Amino acid sequence: MLHLMKTPNRVKTPNRVARLLVAAVMAALTLLMVSSQSVFADGSGHNKGATLRSEATELGIHIGSAVGSTQLSTDTQYAQILGQQFSAITPENEMKWASVEAQRGVFTFGPADAEVQFAEQHHQLVRGHNLVWHSQLPTWLTSGTFTNEHKIWQWDVVNEPFNDDGTLRSTIWEQALGPNYFADALRWTHEADPHAKLFLNDYNIEGAGPKSDAMYALVKSLKEQHVPIDGVGFETHLGLQFGLPSMQPNLQRFADLGLDVDITEMDVRMILPATPALLATQASWYAQVLQACIAVRRCVDFTVWEYTDKYSWIPGFFTGQGSADIYDENFVPKPAYAALLDALKHPVSHQRH
Ligand code: XIL
Repeated sequence: MLHLMKTPNRVKTPNRVARLLVAAVMAALTLLMVSSQSVFADGSGHNKGATLRSEATELGIHIGSAVGSTQLSTDTQYAQILGQQFSAITPENEMKWASVEAQRGVFTFGPADAEVQFAEQHHQLVRGHNLVWHSQLPTWLTSGTFTNEHKIWQWDVVNEPFNDDGTLRSTIWEQALGPNYFADALRWTHEADPHAKLFLNDYNIEGAGPKSDAMYALVKSLKEQHVPIDGVGFETHLGLQFGLPSMQPNLQRFADLGLDVDITEMDVRMILPATPALLATQASWYAQVLQACIAVRRCVDFTVWEYTDKYSWIPGFFTGQGSADIYDENFVPKPAYAALLDALKHPVSHQRH
């Protein structure tokens, strides 16, 4: 913007017509810059109507989706909708240690890089998911391509550290580094990527309960010790058979600690077959969670864990369950899509405005 505004002074214009022409072009460019966040990033430059990302931009929220590199490179319809509807992406698996260094000393950055490149081309932010730590700072973090140009918006630095009863999950990290490994991991990440926002991320912390309390106590203590932590990710893998947790008060108490509180992996699974009634309830849950996010100013990202049932992880992990996403297997938007769009257009809370 600044650059554009300064440019006319430096341009030598031989006559008035030329000067007017330059001014007109500059004005058009400026308009394009101002509206670029709500213009579809599919290269067409035409605003074809409301999308999740255009409506969310108005509220200062990013709408994200998990992305898989295989479908991104092979399924053009998948890629097109991803670019049009979402303003953030999270690599579903490609930045995990098992993907980046499947074989000791052999690093694979290609799939993650391709996703970051797609995000740049479509003006999307990237949630880095996730970092795994051993006793020393992994060299791929400092020398890898993820961080060199500050391409990551938010990192899930530690993922799923708690058991459901609120005790610390026993992992090789906790065993090797001791129960205070969080502070080290956050400090190391901050050193390596000082511009990224650093998160702890977990599931079953969406509503009140022992696990949520454990996360709350942990991040409160980290804040008090001035450890670099910027937010908590609430995965929000819900199932219609389990009930909808009351999220807004819980998000708010974390936000009151001075932290961002993001919805990082939402999906709503059901026991198949899907029926119109189940899909209607699912739609209402998606909308209610988004409304809770909108109502809490520190909720800056709402990400779904894949947007289409075609590539959902649910059927592979929960036998007999599925239909958890907002588009069906044929990329037809489900009632949940319309409910999200409606929530963005008609936020219950106007606190963000
Ligand atoms: C899942 C992916 O979706 C699957 O493709 C993979 O096989 C296993 O991991 N919580 C997380 C995510 O933080 O990384 C998980 O993603 C889903 C649960």
